[in-house]
Amino acid sequence: MVGSRVQLAKAGREYKACCPFHTEKTASFWVSPEKQFYHCFGCGAHGTALRFLMEYDHLAFPEAVEELAGRLGLPVPNEGGGDAARPRDASLYELMARVAQFYAETLKRDERAERYLTQRGLTAEIVQRFGIGYAPDAWNALLKRFGPGERDRQTLGELGLIIERERSQVRDGEQHYDRFRDRIMFPIRDSRGRAIAFGGRVIDRGEPKYLNSPETALFHKGRELYGLYETRLARSSLKRLLVVEGYMDVVRLHQAGIAYAVATLGTATTAEHLMRIFRLVREVVFAFDGDRAGRGAAWRALQHALPQAREGREIRFLFLPEGHDPDTLVGEEGREAFEKRLESALPLSEYLVRELSAQCDIAHADGRARFAEAARPLVHKVPEGVYRELLLTRVAEVVGLAPQRLQALWAGGEPSAQAVQAPARRRPIRSAGRGSLVRQAVVRLVRFPATAGSVTDAERAGIDDCTEPGADLLRALLDDLRERPLKVSAQVLERWVAKPGGEHLGRLLEREEVLDEEAAAAVELRAVLVKLADTVLERRLDALLAKQAATGGLSEAELLEFQRFMNRKADRSR
Ligand code: UTP
Ligand code: MN
Repeated sequence: MVGSRVQLAKAGREYKACCPFHTEKTASFWVSPEKQFYHCFGCGAHGTALRFLMEYDHLAFPEAVEELAGRLGLPVPNEGGGDAARPRDASLYELMARVAQFYAETLKRDERAERYLTQRGLTAEIVQRFGIGYAPDAWNALLKRFGPGERDRQTLGELGLIIERERSQVRDGEQHYDRFRDRIMFPIRDSRGRAIAFGGRVIDRGEPKYLNSPETALFHKGRELYGLYETRLARSSLKRLLVVEGYMDVVRLHQAGIAYAVATLGTATTAEHLMRIFRLVREVVFAFDGDRAGRGAAWRALQHALPQAREGREIRFLFLPEGHDPDTLVGEEGREAFEKRLESALPLSEYLVRELSAQCDIAHADGRARFAEAARPLVHKVPEGVYRELLLTRVAEVVGLAPQRLQALWAGGEPSAQAVQAPARRRPIRSAGRGSLVRQAVVRLVRFPATAGSVTDAERAGIDDCTEPGADLLRALLDDLRERPLKVSAQVLERWVAKPGGEHLGRLLEREEVLDEEAAAAVELRAVLVKLADTVLERRLDALLAKQAATGGLSEAELLEFQRFMNRKADRSR
């Protein structure tokens, strides 16, 4: 598997190569097929086959599992759901691929469509890389070609490629017509490169300018990012993603060498988009047109980005000059100048401050008070931690108050005497977000025992096989509190005083100075449990995949176990 991506030379029972994760002249990257493991003595990169796919191909965990399982000949349930739907989905993907192929071929035979793309500055190479095509100017091109039978017709319908006519509109006995006619077709691909939907642009003029596939079994637009697959293919050590608004923007940017541009599909950036993005990179820049619509879209993106903001992640906003979009701009000024703009994009905190101060006149006290009020819900969307502290500090600076004072005002309480007297003293960094996952979960349970009630059976089951240190205590505590709920920490300590692990609980609680909100703690607790379940899953899947690779076979029981893991994963991603 590594061998298909890196040039390996045999060295005894192992293989070696120049490390793909750092630059080097002599080979210090070792691969052991037997152990299904790689290790670089130069930069310390190491891991299993699964890890390799995640690092090298920039695949997220579930996708890496699918990819590897697929290669090893293990049955994989589909992205969208359980395995019942599998044979059906397979034929949907297959038809989609044939349709994309048909559009691409039609483009080559249509002079007008080709001329249009040339005129928009696209090269033949980029048209091919993105699989761009053309839907002929006819009501029944797809129907004729792919839908002679009742069943095919139904499949085309499910894929959103044909539309059913109203009864009164039926013509020549034909009940359906092609959705896309006389349009440039942009296939939208999933993380494995399969066409799952299309965006179709009119040539010249017409309404709507872009027509998109509807939501189907394969396509959920709040989840997909146009160009993400192509970005991964380009794979120039992916560090950042640039999120733009349009199909043409993505294609033109890639052509110009900015091969890390993706677009949301005619929707605002969703939380799901952001989660996908941050599984791949730590840095994201949003580019928006400088007009009013662009500014509105940017503000919506900010709202969704706040819950994803934290230390170690960089979220920035770029506003383009009025009348420009990335497509026209990169065409005019080229890659270097455009990337320079990216460097100067506004960090999220600065954009937030700038936008709010434009709305409130911060030269005056009551303007600053309004500013503080407007900033409050936004700051509270950021999860507790260093980043939130920094944002709070920045907002406080604009308001002209010490951060502690502002926080006290927001909390509705009187600012403490200490806060007023010593405004410059820094608060200790919050520790609730740190420590092992198990510790984070336990701390929350002890501090707010009632949060146990919000944990679902599935979330609890996810940590059944967890072997992290302290996992036994976590399970015992969680089960106990789910069965016999308690309200306050003191009761927990009392009940646990004589139990194994009980002595840790008091100490843990003492060291936590932070958690102050039960609702947040409940959400965090559940998130931590899900993360823990993921680590269990990852370890076990690693082991199963390594065995499959080494021996070429899993026992019936192991296959079943694999299926069960994959289904659980699929449930989770829904
Ligand atoms: P724009 O209107 O800014 O178009 O829409 P564009 O990307 O610059 O397209 P060109 O350069 O004229 O070809 C931005 C994005 O909004 C979605 C599409 O995803 C488009 O790329 N959109 C726009 C639609 O879904 N439907 C529309 O009718 C218009
Ligand atoms: Mn454009």
